[in-house]
Amino acid sequence: MGYKTREWRNSMRVTLDYNNMMDTFLGAQGFTQKKLSSYSAKASVAYRYVQENRGRDDLYMGWTELPYNQTEIVADILQTAKTVRNKFQNFVVLGIGGSALGPIMAFNALCHLHYNDLPRSKRKGPKFYVEDNVDPVRMRDLLDVIDPAKTCFNVISKSGATSETMTQYLIILDLLTKAGVDIKENVIFTTDEKKGNLIKISNEVGGIKSYVLPDGVGGRFSQLCPVGLLPAAVLGIDIKGLLAGAAYMDKVCSNSSMYKNPALMCATLQIAAMEDGKNIGVMMPYSDNLKFIADWYCQLWAESLGKNVTLDGTPCNVGQTPVKSLGVTDQHSQVQLYTEGPYDKVVTFLSLKKYGCEIPIPHGCENIPDVAFLGGHTMEELIQAENAATAYALTKAGRMNYTLWIPELNAFTLGQLLFLFELQTAYAGAMLNINTFNQPGVEEGKKATFALLGKAGYAEKKAELDSLPAKDPKCII
Ligand code: PA5
Repeated sequence: MGYKTREWRNSMRVTLDYNNMMDTFLGAQGFTQKKLSSYSAKASVAYRYVQENRGRDDLYMGWTELPYNQTEIVADILQTAKTVRNKFQNFVVLGIGGSALGPIMAFNALCHLHYNDLPRSKRKGPKFYVEDNVDPVRMRDLLDVIDPAKTCFNVISKSGATSETMTQYLIILDLLTKAGVDIKENVIFTTDEKKGNLIKISNEVGGIKSYVLPDGVGGRFSQLCPVGLLPAAVLGIDIKGLLAGAAYMDKVCSNSSMYKNPALMCATLQIAAMEDGKNIGVMMPYSDNLKFIADWYCQLWAESLGKNVTLDGTPCNVGQTPVKSLGVTDQHSQVQLYTEGPYDKVVTFLSLKKYGCEIPIPHGCENIPDVAFLGGHTMEELIQAENAATAYALTKAGRMNYTLWIPELNAFTLGQLLFLFELQTAYAGAMLNINTFNQPGVEEGKKATFALLGKAGYAEKKAELDSLPAKDPKCII
């Protein structure tokens, strides 16, 4: 594998503890071994489906090969990143959905939590922003804090037809042009190789640095291709480590037995829980750095599994609603519901064995035992105790939960997590017998937006919108 030593890699292995899904801990609310093992055959079939279709562009399974087939691209990205770091004060990603959530997640996971506030000497790269909305206030406020001429804009869009991203591009293009800046100097595209508008623009203008979002890789599975790798490299993140971590997890999961494949077991636990009425999946990292992996996961899980038809055309309405939560912050809000509300949730904890930062809690307030007991511990001990206590409280209340243990947060372990979740999603989609990799439900809103803004070819859709009955004033109070 060639990334650090085998001992180091093994010491960084992300592991799954699903004891708190079982009847031993949950009583009648948990799975018996017999119940869980009844999913074994289904899980093996899902595993084989994913294995047999690895790398197939026509099925959007190209993401499985990203840890292995990007040596030249990685070298090119590292070179570009170096130039960007030397040349620009800011790096702005223009993108949305799968073209934004990955860069946001990696930035928050592996950079200083107040990265943009650090002086340049303490930052590995330029200031970093991801603009994944078209709220005009947000655009105005961004333009208040960056000088476009001193900013590199990475426009990320597979289709080049996404209204949000292309609106942002038009605004930036106008600003750069008015400032007399050659867009070739300040803009990098990440897009489909042959199709789409960005490649047309790139060909027209000529010479815009462009990275390829490979054919068989959909937006939400694109973090480990140039979509995520370029922004990460600009930030000084070890992108070879990310890919090595993904490859390592791929190997860990190369087993058709769910008892030996953590991604397959996670998929099976979630499917079995869904069938048991647990239609909400809470992702709860106990780490501020991992707060946005929950956002990234929510898109992956929701957009991939929320489908209304099976692969053989049978109508269905499947999927599990993912919810993000942050430990310990949400212990003081959502956990009340998780512990005592309906039995409709599975909680996934992302727990760090080491935070890499020891902050001792000083002794003090010795006359107030309620406070004094904290002195002499560390903040790491406190957050870990609260994580264990929440898992205990949920378990005691008969609420399903399991933990992914992360030895420490670094590029290698983050790469493992990303690949584990991608595999888990692909396995779960195969068990549900749906198309995991399309998103037809997103299209209707896109088309209605085109119609409302008068895009050519959408007159019929506009007529459809206009034909809605008039609003009943009684329903507006
Ligand atoms: O996961 C997906 O496919 C979507 O979230 C897309 O990434 C999102 O709609 C943006 O599409 P595009 O990259 O074509 O601009």
